[in-house]
Amino acid sequence: IALLTAHALFESHSNIKAFSGNKVSVVLGAQWGDEGKGKVVDLLATESDLVCRCQGGNNAGHTVVVDEKEYDFHLLPSGIINTKCTSFIGNGVVIHLPGLFEEIDKNEKKGIFLVVENTYNEIIIKVHLFVSVFDFHQAVDGLQELQRQAQEGQNIGTTKKGIGPTYACKASRTGLRICDLMADFSEFSSRVKNLVLQYQSMFPALKVEVESELKKLKDYAERIRPLVRDGVYFMYDAIHGSPKKILAEGANAALLDIDFGTYPFVTSSNCTVGGVCTGLGIPPANIGDVYGVSKAYTTRVGIGAFPTEQLNAVGELLQTRGHEVGVTTGRKRRCGWLDLVILKYAHMINGFTAIALTKLDILDVLDEIKVGVAYKINGKRIPYFPANMEVLQKVEVEYEMFSGWKTDTSAARKWNDLPPKAQNYIRFVENHIGVPIKWVGVGKSRECMIQMF
Ligand code: GDP
Ligand code: IMO
Ligand code: MG
Repeated sequence: IALLTAHALFESHSNIKAFSGNKVSVVLGAQWGDEGKGKVVDLLATESDLVCRCQGGNNAGHTVVVDEKEYDFHLLPSGIINTKCTSFIGNGVVIHLPGLFEEIDKNEKKGIFLVVENTYNEIIIKVHLFVSVFDFHQAVDGLQELQRQAQEGQNIGTTKKGIGPTYACKASRTGLRICDLMADFSEFSSRVKNLVLQYQSMFPALKVEVESELKKLKDYAERIRPLVRDGVYFMYDAIHGSPKKILAEGANAALLDIDFGTYPFVTSSNCTVGGVCTGLGIPPANIGDVYGVSKAYTTRVGIGAFPTEQLNAVGELLQTRGHEVGVTTGRKRRCGWLDLVILKYAHMINGFTAIALTKLDILDVLDEIKVGVAYKINGKRIPYFPANMEVLQKVEVEYEMFSGWKTDTSAARKWNDLPPKAQNYIRFVENHIGVPIKWVGVGKSRECMIQMF
């Protein structure tokens, strides 16, 4: 009876059809970061109305090269160069205000000016659930790394941007949000002071100039105030208003995801597709295409297992030819062959609709190219990606071999410009992951991207 009643009720209201709204296309890192997400976002932003960052903080370093000018973005969305595209930083991002303004000022010198309430390089910052990174979170990040090194003989190799401590504050409900900064400053100050006391009881060596940090924050609060909006309403209007192309830019990557990555050698947010909904306050039904970005090989910054790493001349060649140096920390990236086990795993979580395969040009000079296709333990294939790091450290990788194309691909602009051996490599990767490759990157700049369909 209850079911029938519910059905009857539904029937009587069935003339109310929910408008599903505009879809949000998503760009996500499919490896350990630095796959070229910035370049893909910039390319897609040329046809977008809104580009949103949804998680991470200024641990991210996203490079965009347009008209021979190079930009590095850390908190600003990588679509910001496109003057018709509004930029939005969502609630899932942890923001270090001095870092944000430093980045804004640096980019103004390069000709990117922020205008509020205008269609020209506008930036909107979400008011609601926005956790703020303080200088002392960055100091605590450094102290925790020292403690890990002393206790465990190794650390995580974080970017020391305060990401872990800030997300930990969010989870333990001691974090401070932009909406708190926008409200009563004396209430905000006393919560900051309590937080400092908590940290000092854990780390007696922690020195914090709390009054001067608060004074700086008061100035930043006024500078940021005109940019702040309620993000849930902002995104709802963007989705349900006039037709719009909306883009979400992931930071970090699947294998650095707090839940699915190579824990504990990960970052502290969800860098997989779920982080887009929680980091912007949007329904899953409004997620459209999900683009995974992968290099044609693999890199990793920081500590942790890396099964296809090449600690040899191949690794050095990839590092030097690929200029594999971290954008945020300047550390050399570790390099190795493409690993299809991790790409398939990232696809299981994210449901990629297409892949961007970047940096194919870096492989141009190799005689032979290998691709990791399976992991083995004690000579037996394992049918899953190991969650435990001691196990992952031990796996033996099964490779598929390809002979190199030994041709410069950097001028290729369409599929037919690529040598057949490079085409063969791309098709193999595509078939193995089971996801179409939509773009192939052959250089740093915006135009060095072959679009396949
Ligand atoms: P992100 O963090 O994913 O945005 O990537 P990063 O900017 O940290 O690192 C990617 C690096 O590769 C940057 O220096 C890019 O300019 C560069 N890059 C991106 N795509 C290509 C490509 O197809 N070929 C070459 N040679 N470089 C590329
Ligand atoms: P983009 O967005 C590469 C790595 C750090 C470290 C670990 C934890 O440019 O791809 P954290 O400071 O987040 O606590 O560091 O995660 N890491 C990245 N590596 N690219 C990134 O971002 C990264 N963000 C974090 O090197 O190993
Ligand atoms: Mg990067």
